[in-house]
Amino acid sequence: MTIAVQKAPRIRPDDAVRIAMAHYGLAALVSTLPSERDQNFLLQTSSGQKFVLKIANAEEQYDFLNLQNELIRFLGEKEIGLEFPRIVPSQSGADIATIKTADSREHFVRMLTWVDGVCFAETKPHDRKLLASLGRALGQMDAALKEFSHPAAHRSFYWDLRNAASARELVTLLPTDRRPLVERHFDDWAKIDWSSLRFSVIHNDGNDYNVLVNGLDPSQRRVSAILDYGDVVHSATVCNLAVALAYAMLDKNDPIGAAGQVVAAYQEIYPLTESEIDVLYTLAVTRLCFSVCIAARQTRDVPDNEYLNISNAPVWALLEKLQEVSPDWPRRVFRYVCGMPIPKDKTPPRQWTRTELLAGRKKHLGPSLSVSYESPLHIVSGAREFLFDARGRRYLDCINNVAHVGHSHPYVVRAAANQMAILNTNTRYLHELLIEYSERLIALLPEPLRVVYLVNSGSEANELALRLARAHTNRTDVVVVDCAYHGNTSAMIDLSPYKFDGPGGRGRPTWVHKVPMPDVYRGKHRGEDAATQYAREVARATQIAEKQGGVAAFFCESAVGCGGQIILPPGYLRAAYASVRNAGGVCVADEVQTGFGRAGTHFWMFETQDVVPDIVTLGKPIGNGHPLGAVVTTREIAASLANGMEYFNTFGGNPVSCATGLAVLDVIRDEELQQNALEVGEYLKEQLHLLQDRHVLIGDVRGLGLFIGIELVRDRDTLEPADREAAQLVERMKELGILLSTDGPFHNVIKIKPPLVFSRKDADVLVAGLDSVLRESAFVDG
Ligand SMILES: Cc1ncc(COP(=O)(O)O)c(C=O)c1O
Repeated sequence: MTIAVQKAPRIRPDDAVRIAMAHYGLAALVSTLPSERDQNFLLQTSSGQKFVLKIANAEEQYDFLNLQNELIRFLGEKEIGLEFPRIVPSQSGADIATIKTADSREHFVRMLTWVDGVCFAETKPHDRKLLASLGRALGQMDAALKEFSHPAAHRSFYWDLRNAASARELVTLLPTDRRPLVERHFDDWAKIDWSSLRFSVIHNDGNDYNVLVNGLDPSQRRVSAILDYGDVVHSATVCNLAVALAYAMLDKNDPIGAAGQVVAAYQEIYPLTESEIDVLYTLAVTRLCFSVCIAARQTRDVPDNEYLNISNAPVWALLEKLQEVSPDWPRRVFRYVCGMPIPKDKTPPRQWTRTELLAGRKKHLGPSLSVSYESPLHIVSGAREFLFDARGRRYLDCINNVAHVGHSHPYVVRAAANQMAILNTNTRYLHELLIEYSERLIALLPEPLRVVYLVNSGSEANELALRLARAHTNRTDVVVVDCAYHGNTSAMIDLSPYKFDGPGGRGRPTWVHKVPMPDVYRGKHRGEDAATQYAREVARATQIAEKQGGVAAFFCESAVGCGGQIILPPGYLRAAYASVRNAGGVCVADEVQTGFGRAGTHFWMFETQDVVPDIVTLGKPIGNGHPLGAVVTTREIAASLANGMEYFNTFGGNPVSCATGLAVLDVIRDEELQQNALEVGEYLKEQLHLLQDRHVLIGDVRGLGLFIGIELVRDRDTLEPADREAAQLVERMKELGILLSTDGPFHNVIKIKPPLVFSRKDADVLVAGLDSVLRESAFVDG
């Protein structure tokens, strides 16, 4: 037993009443609060005011209490969104008074105002927002304390995680069968290189009874205070977060996921270093091990001291659960949420230079493959919205809508890898994942879209959509939107104006009917009735088709990507669909670019047009990079294809694809990525509109959610496309570490369609980058 615990004061509540009156002139009702080394009393006056009377351990040094007071004052003065108690001076004006007990021991006494709130431990289940608010609170506190110093903080303190060796000595007090649960973590702890970590004064006790939440209304809850400054110490800064994580993981189905949410929010406020991220989990579990070891000693020495036993059972349950977690997993998750690359386990047998890679492409690959940027990038890893090149340089990825939930999201990676290790076959065997995934996908789509085909790419999905449409209507022709792109197969090239009208294209086949892109900025119709006018073009095209093979389908992207991030004017699809259906055709929504929450307001972009297509095609984001695509249609249309010919697809719907697709849906839901797309997308658009006011080159800013386009023009009246400038801008942005691309019929539209984990901070980085590049003479002078 530590001397501090032995010398815990033993003041009775009626003595506390007398102390409050004698030293603070307060008449109050008193109740006892738990404490390990000190004694704390809650005082309540008749007018309802609440205070905490703190009687320090006889061992406590004045300087240390002074440190606590200074720290409370320091943090209270910083506006960090947390509440701190006020220090109430004694009647003699002292922040720290002295009392003498009957056994002639002297104790220092302090009075603090009461801070209202509910303990974090009592607000379970903890949702994402609450966990994030804990991370933010800790980040704010640590960031502020960077500037705080006090000589008394430099102390040797047994709860300092650097001192885990002393707790480790107590392992023998644990039941034999439980010792391995903690020993492996102490082994990892012993390997920590403390010299690689940052040091500062830390609170060091963000346990779930010291963290307060304001109110119980789940939609409003946030961490409002972090109390109890008795464990403050100068130590490795990351220990503060680690201690809080240890308790945040308690009673969670997915403790590492919950910890990841705290870490992600912390990172936004006060970025961790790579070394800190890599020791975070070890430190957090060491704290748990520490806790059970100290509790074991306490039980041996003072069996009736309840305080340390409060969280003992859940700690053991958590340690047992963590036994099943692969040692690498937490580090992967924490690295991922902090946007750090996952280091390769082995160095590749050969280090390629960029020149060698370029030469290799030229030698071995088809020359029609292209690479981005004048000086191509050699990207070797990704995490969240970041990509890393071979030299370790980080790039903010503003264009990859395939890495929808974030590059190499560990949850998706694990789901795919686990399933790959078990089974991967075709759909000719029964498999639960195929059904589970189809059900989950269908549940996200409106009636009557109830039949799923799983394929391997967007092109394949559209190819099948064409077959379905033709089989169902017994017609051949297709109406498509100018500049649209639907895929790389022969039929898709034939119905993609982006390709058949482009370089090397062979022009429009007779069975394809092109309608103008519903572009209200530079298109044919720009006024209020543009949607109606553009929809009339569709009606006219169907009439022409009727004179040929009849209209089988109208293919339309729910927002035209390659056409230059064109947002369909409200009402367009409703009217266009009506005329196509009147003519006997079916309506295909190509959601390959736009689906899965990117629109922000809706899960599917077609929903923003208030229509239900007959066939929906899905791709890109659906597998977060795993080759997966899907077609969802009605029972009637699906029945039309069942004419006796088997539809076989070797890879489509295999268990690995289904596991991957399911994981992607889980992450979109659990990380509330659609909501993020809405909030960050709106914010980014606002900022881009402000940028437009400063830079004449920006002719138009348009978008829905995180699907945004910036159209550059040399003249806002003539709309002369600024294509060279757009290309140059993209190159300059790349030099700044920000990845963008151009598109549109004139190649003058900057495309923005990042992974949905894109944050407001990323939006600020992007806008600041654009602003600085657009100020450069090449852009200002034209
Ligand atoms: C709208 C649209 N549809 C279909 C496709 C084809 O998808 P994939 O490249 O997966 O075959 C693309 C690809 O860029 C696309 O943008």
